[in-house]
Amino acid sequence: MKFFLDTANLQEIREGAALGVVDGVTTNPSLLAKEKGDPEEILRQICELVDGPISAEVVATDAAGMLSEGRHWAALHKNIVVKCPCTVEGLKATKLLAAEGKRVNMTLIFSPMQALLAAKAGARFVSPFVGRLDDVSTDGMQLVADIVQIFENYDFDCEVLAASLRHPMHVLEAARLGAHVGTMPMSVLSALVKHPLTDIGLKRFLEDWEKAKKELGARAR
Ligand code: E4P
Repeated sequence: MKFFLDTANLQEIREGAALGVVDGVTTNPSLLAKEKGDPEEILRQICELVDGPISAEVVATDAAGMLSEGRHWAALHKNIVVKCPCTVEGLKATKLLAAEGKRVNMTLIFSPMQALLAAKAGARFVSPFVGRLDDVSTDGMQLVADIVQIFENYDFDCEVLAASLRHPMHVLEAARLGAHVGTMPMSVLSALVKHPLTDIGLKRFLEDWEKAKKELGARAR
């Protein structure tokens, strides 16, 4: 399973990249709007920090506009993947961008059929939003399960990118289901590392080691 960081914050991306397990980054207009500075420059810097797919989303709502924004984003850096929303216009733009060899991440996916349409249009990634479905009392993870199963039935060159993952259990469940990618905030990635028994175990190892060293020193005297 590939791990993407869902942030446009350079400090978080630096921290995540240092862990050695970050395979890509997803941004969206809201995430970029939270950061100070020119979004284009931020995206360029993200591409330098992580050598993997970096999603940059279009904000046009018509296919022609998405195509032109998508071309612009893709020309920024070889790592850029163009994010298009799953709308009629988004599907048209995806088809055109894919025909030009540009990778598309179809975002705001809330039904299995939207994912199937995205894959048919040539998207390289589909992003089902798990947390946002959970927010409205719908099982977001079931959507991931459905899409994984549908994609297994066919031969699409399209990865299931479980998005809107809000806590470690979301990541665990997405991995169990076979999602190719999970994108998560840095807080969730950090939480995956932690276990209280690891901390207790390490503390004990270090205390025992210190004790043994002292005893050895006392015996030598
Ligand atoms: C994914 O590409 C989106 O940027 C993100 O996962 C949305 O997450 P949220 O629902 O927590 O905002």
